Amino acid sequence: MVKRIAILGSTGSIGTQALEVVEKLKDKFEIIALSAGNNTNLLIEQIKKFHPMFVSVKNENDAKIIQDKFPGIYVFNGETGINKIAELPMIDMLLVAVSGKIGLKPTITAIENKKDIALANKETLVMAGDIVMKLAKENNVKIIPVDSEHSAIFQCIGDSKSVKHLIITASGGPFRNSTIEEMEHADLSETLNHPRWKMGKKITVDSATLMNKGLEVIEAHHLFNFKYDDIKVVIHPQSYVHSAVEFSDGSVIAQLGIPSMHIPIQYALTYPDRIEGIETESFDFIKASKLEFYEPDFDKFPSLKLAIEMGKKGGTYPVCMNAANEEAVFAFLEKKINYLDIYKITNDICNRYKGINNPTIEQIIEEDEKIREITRNHIKEM
Ligand SMILES: NC(=O)c1ccc[n+]([C@@H]2O[C@H](COP(=O)([O-])OP(=O)(O)OC[C@H]3O[C@@H](n4cnc5c(N)ncnc54)[C@H](OP(=O)(O)O)[C@@H]3O)[C@@H](O)[C@H]2O)c1
Repeated sequence: MVKRIAILGSTGSIGTQALEVVEKLKDKFEIIALSAGNNTNLLIEQIKKFHPMFVSVKNENDAKIIQDKFPGIYVFNGETGINKIAELPMIDMLLVAVSGKIGLKPTITAIENKKDIALANKETLVMAGDIVMKLAKENNVKIIPVDSEHSAIFQCIGDSKSVKHLIITASGGPFRNSTIEEMEHADLSETLNHPRWKMGKKITVDSATLMNKGLEVIEAHHLFNFKYDDIKVVIHPQSYVHSAVEFSDGSVIAQLGIPSMHIPIQYALTYPDRIEGIETESFDFIKASKLEFYEPDFDKFPSLKLAIEMGKKGGTYPVCMNAANEEAVFAFLEKKINYLDIYKITNDICNRYKGINNPTIEQIIEEDEKIREITRNHIKEM
């Protein structure tokens, strides 16, 4: 049976790789809808190739340009646009591959409309994991992780109930071997020069500070319903072991593979089937011969510690941390602050924050907006 798919964030790193998977497996999928932010040129190419019935872009003006070019398709825009895509009755699965908080509302909309979710956007679970997972259970909706670490854990766990620890691996990013003094002078191009993965800019900066790993710990806590103390982070520079699971009898199952996002994306789209797709190269144990594992250095990478602490506090504390970090990362990308300021700002904002327990979605969105404004003002005053 052909699976009918909508992709939010089709012009991004995950979105474009998902379309490569779909192109390779043409007879398995039909693209019903695509959404982009500002990259309308790429979206136009994607429309010509995949013929979606619906598209959405960030701005009204771009929506008009696309509508004039393709009068036969429905064109939406803004946040309401991606929400309309999430509720389309004819889709079987929504791939949420937008970056940042924009992924939250359409994920909830799709779950309420009983669509299965392939989830790349980690901010959704960081901000509202309790609500999203509960809603998915109530609506009998599957949330299949796309993040390589969570896909690995998902594959290792299978249907076992006897899991003792989750082991999340991290490459360590571009500053794994740098001193704090060296990181003080880290510029944008060094920070974006990830040794293993080619990703969007926000997640690449988060991978350098290890905030990304902290977000992943929170994501794993919600996805797999696991206590924070039972989730371990291990630095594994080669990025062949994508993550692992330790069972109560002491046995450990790890998932290995070449560092390619095509594999977890394809698995999320074809789940539960495994089929030959875009990556045909076999994993070469001899070539990969060296597998190293280290403890993370919390002094050099305090963002990881902060994220786990905020995750443990729960309520809207992770919302605060995520919003402050995201605004600080944007400021770093615009060269308004230095690399080490990202953590300092995020930590300052979190220290001053008084969170809400058991928040509603409306409260989460309100807190998120409030923190973003506070962070932007804080940056202006620096
Ligand atoms: N990249 C990876 O390997 C990877 C791995 C694991 C998890 N993830 C997660 O997957 C998500 C996407 O990451 P990415 O690396 O693919 O990011 P990315 O390359 O920056 O792409 C982000 C996508 O979201 C769209 N977008 C951004 N803001 C938008 C807005 N306000 N309205 C509508 N669309 C908007 C962008 O559109 P335009 O480009 O057209 O503006 C683009 O299509 C993130 O949550 C990330 O943490 C990524």
